[in-house]
Amino acid sequence: MQAFKIQGQNRLFGTVDIHGAKNAILPIMAAALLTDKPIRIENISFLSDVSILSQLLQSLGMKIHNETDAITLQADNITSTHADYDFVSKMRGSFWVLGPLLARFHEAEVSLPGGCAIGTRPVDLYLSALTEMGAEISVENGYVRAKGPLHGAEIFFPKISVGATHNTIMAAVLTPGQTIIHNPALEPEVIDLIEMLIKMGAKIEGVGTKTLIITGVKKLTGCHHKIIPDRIETATFAVAAAMTRGRIYLKGARMDLMDAVVDVLRINHVIFEQDDNGLLVDATHAQLTSTPITTCEYPGFPTDCQALITSLLAIANGESIVEERIFENRFMHIPELQRMGAHVRNVNNSTIILSGVSELSGTTVMASDLRGGVGLVLAGLVAKGQTIVKRIYHIDRGYYKLEAKLSGLGAVIERIDID
Ligand code: EPZ
Repeated sequence: MQAFKIQGQNRLFGTVDIHGAKNAILPIMAAALLTDKPIRIENISFLSDVSILSQLLQSLGMKIHNETDAITLQADNITSTHADYDFVSKMRGSFWVLGPLLARFHEAEVSLPGGCAIGTRPVDLYLSALTEMGAEISVENGYVRAKGPLHGAEIFFPKISVGATHNTIMAAVLTPGQTIIHNPALEPEVIDLIEMLIKMGAKIEGVGTKTLIITGVKKLTGCHHKIIPDRIETATFAVAAAMTRGRIYLKGARMDLMDAVVDVLRINHVIFEQDDNGLLVDATHAQLTSTPITTCEYPGFPTDCQALITSLLAIANGESIVEERIFENRFMHIPELQRMGAHVRNVNNSTIILSGVSELSGTTVMASDLRGGVGLVLAGLVAKGQTIVKRIYHIDRGYYKLEAKLSGLGAVIERIDID
């Protein structure tokens, strides 16, 4: 097992590269199943989630060629439509092969997903959309078995789901007739998937609005696509700058993808300057003050940044209420933060109140999920003394060489092997 050992209280200065968004790479890799032509995806970081999805796609017969920061996928000889538990249980994004397999091959057998333990995370919205589109679906022995062919349909999502939106769009682009999706997710990663599908020849109208109109085409073709920068990684370094009162240039980052986070950090006197190559975050005069946070679907405050901002609010002046509205179990990092000296009261399962303390103190803590784990790393960066963050395999799912990037900015952090 590996852990991060952090010696806290160093300010962060310098430049760091922001990689392509994990949560855009995954659906875009799955979309390569929709064509027999090569798809080249640029601005890739080879995270453990990318490697799990690559293995799953290869098990279906996909050819994959990796370069330093690009990947080429070609589904010209798909030999199986069975997505095995061994892959899908490790990472929820791999469930998204269901839509493309069903649309192109009219059948799919996909294990029910796993992923971060942040809530129950059902797949009812995925299945009801595909059922509306004519799929015959059964769930047996932990697998979803779906049979086509599909037809166009009018779908109304009663709740916004990023994954169900990805999956339904991917199914609809290759399905005869018109599919109308009401209430889709509007996250930048959904828009990135749509932009790539349009390059492949998909006909999608209403992009970025609450109604998508998709006219199915017979065939899709190959394309080149550069993934958008990771807005959650960007936010992580911006919060790290704010907490350490540093100044970081985030190469490749885009501020327009994370307005809600920028708004909160501006309240804390953090200055942002965007140019063509990246984003400067200047927190040398930051004053961390209590700020109410409610997580929401895009363009609201992202649930994936809740743990990051919680660590910041733990050392801000005054009391902050944080309400988590997307997932029912996303405060698992809080008991560990409390062990570092944070003052936190639970109002109910979805709401906490943080009373800022002047200093956190280092200790050994355990990551229980990806973003919660990174929240603990951020806390370690400002804590007095040494912090050990265990179970960092959660963090490796979504952050590429986090310790190298932080060290490059002046943090004292190393990856160590522990029993
Ligand atoms: C995506 O998960 C992201 N994962 C998550 O990021 C992110 O937190 C989440 O969207 C919300 O932004 C990837 O992109 C790989 P949802 P997803 O379906 O698609 C409920 C990270 O840290 N729901 O939008 O699984 C669900 O339970 C990860 O990078 C249903 O009820 O999230 C949740 O309460 C973690 N039925 C809400 O919708 C369904 O069929 C939103 O989930 C599907 C979802």
